[in-house]
Amino acid sequence: MELVKRLCDTYGPSGREDNIRKIIESNIQKYCKKIEVDRLGNLIAHVRPKGVGKAKRGNGDKIMFCAHMDEIGLIITHIDKNGFLRFTNVGGIFPERILFERVIFENGTIGVIGVETKRETPKPAYLDNMFIDIGAKNKEEAQTMVRIGDIAAFYQQSVNINKRLSAKALDDRIGCYCLIETMKRIKSNKDDLYFVFSVQEEVGLRGARTGAYAIAPKYAIAVDVTITGDIPESPKMDVSIGKGVAIKVKDSAFIGHPLINDKLVSYARKMKIPYQLEILERGTTDAAIIQVVKEGALSGVLSIPTRYVHSTNEVCDFADVEATIKLLTCICEKGLE
Ligand code: CO
Ligand code: ZN
Repeated sequence: MELVKRLCDTYGPSGREDNIRKIIESNIQKYCKKIEVDRLGNLIAHVRPKGVGKAKRGNGDKIMFCAHMDEIGLIITHIDKNGFLRFTNVGGIFPERILFERVIFENGTIGVIGVETKRETPKPAYLDNMFIDIGAKNKEEAQTMVRIGDIAAFYQQSVNINKRLSAKALDDRIGCYCLIETMKRIKSNKDDLYFVFSVQEEVGLRGARTGAYAIAPKYAIAVDVTITGDIPESPKMDVSIGKGVAIKVKDSAFIGHPLINDKLVSYARKMKIPYQLEILERGTTDAAIIQVVKEGALSGVLSIPTRYVHSTNEVCDFADVEATIKLLTCICEKGLE
C-alpha cells in the first residue's frame, strides 16, 4: 500500500523515469539477482527457473511481463515576458482534465495550470491557450527556475476513497506494483521469467520494443490500466471497477492471442479469480509492440480497470489489483504452454 502510493506520487514522465526505476529496483532486489538497465532505461529483471526438479529445468519458455514506468507530462516550449510558461503534451493529455491542477518539475519547481479567458468569448480548453504559472515575476526570474524542454508531471498525493485508490499515474504505476508483488509471491517456476519495467510507453511504446528485442520471448503479458464503462454517461463498455482483472480481447492496436486468452480465462476460473473481458476502442499498450518484435510473441494483456485515466485523479479498486496479482502469480508458476 505504501509502495503503490509512493510509486504513483513520484515524478516520472516519459524519458524521465529514473526516480521510478530506483524505487522498483530497491524493491525487487531481494527477489531477483539478475537486474539490468538497458540503453533506453528499461529495467529488466530475469527470474530463473526455481523450485522445480532438474528434469523440468531447461524445458521452460521465455515469458516477458511488461508494465510501463512513465506517466504523461507537459514539456515547456516558451517562457513569456511575464514569466508564464507555454507547453505542449508528452503523451495523451486531455486539456479539459488538467485545468488549474498543480504540476511539478524534476528540480522541484511547482506550478499551477492556467488558461486564457475572456468573459465575452469563453474558449474551449486547448493546450495552445493554457500556461503554467510558477509564481515568477517575469521572464528573467522564470528562467532561473525552469528551462525550455523541462518536463512537468502532475503534482498530486494518493488517497484512499473508501476501498478504492485515487492517484495520479495509476497508469501505469499500478501495473508496476502488480509486477513487483507478483515477483514477491512466486514460489516456483519452470520458465524463464522476465519482468520488464518499460520506459516511454505513453509516447509510442518505445521501451517495450527494445526490451522485447533483447529478450525475444515466446510469450508476453503486458499489465496496464484500462478505462471503464461504469460512470455516468461513459462510453458503452463492459468493464467496471471492482469486478475483477480485465483480460484484453482487443484494443486499437492489439488483439489478444486466443490461445493466451483461453489460458488466462481458464486459470481465472480455476483459481476463482474475478475477471472480465475487455474491448478498448481507443488506445493501446506495450503488448501491441511486443507481439511483433523479431519473430513475434504470443501475447496477452491484463488490465486494471481505472476511472478518469490520464487525469490527475485516476481511480482503481484494490480488489481488482489483488485479482491481477493472483492471476499473474498463477501464470508465473504454471506457465502458458
Ligand atoms: Co496511458
Ligand atoms: Zn498505460
